[in-house]
Formats: sequence, C-alpha cells, structure tokens
Amino acid sequence: MVEKVFKRYNCEHIFEHSLKVALMAKKLAVRFNSDPEKAYESGLLHDIGGIVPNNQRVKVAQELGIVLIPEEHEFPMIIHQKISKVISEQSFGIYDDST
Ligand SMILES: [Fe+2]
Repeated sequence: MVEKVFKRYNCEHIFEHSLKVALMAKKLAVRFNSDPEKAYESGLLHDIGGIVPNNQRVKVAQELGIVLIPEEHEFPMIIHQKISKVISEQSFGIYDDST
C-alpha cells in the first residue's frame, strides 16, 4: 500500500529510502527490545509527506490544519515531517505518538 502511494506520486526514490530506513529500524528494534513491526511501519511512513511537492507544502499544511512556524514558511522542505504524521494518521490509521 505505501509503495503504491509513493509510486502514484512518482516518488519511487523516497520509497527506496523509506524501505531502507524501515528495514534498519526493524533491526534496531529487535536489538533494543522494542516493537519491530512498529519500527518498520514508522520507517516506511516517516517521509510519506514527501509526496507533496515542495512548492505546495505550505498550502497543503494549512488545509490540513497543521500549525507552521516561520522557519517552515521560509524552508518548506521541512514541512514534510508534519505532513507525514497527518497522512499516517488519516490514510493509514496510525495514531501512535509513543516514543
Ligand atoms: Fe528520511
């Protein structure tokens, strides 16, 4: 499912990165006695907000009700993190804020 979303938005490169992060996160979770499946999911979704083009991130974030700080208006690339959280919640049903 996640792979299809990245491909639909021509973001295969982000999916490849996210898959590597997911696999490493899973390994680290096993090593440090955490939940490997949660770690894997987190890795896969951590950059899903990257499907929103940089020049649309401020607008999309505002539409999603995301509060932006001045630095995010100046450097919209970093907004993908907050958008990733909202997509993970609204499209994938993941609401886990535990750390
Ligand atoms: Fe990343």
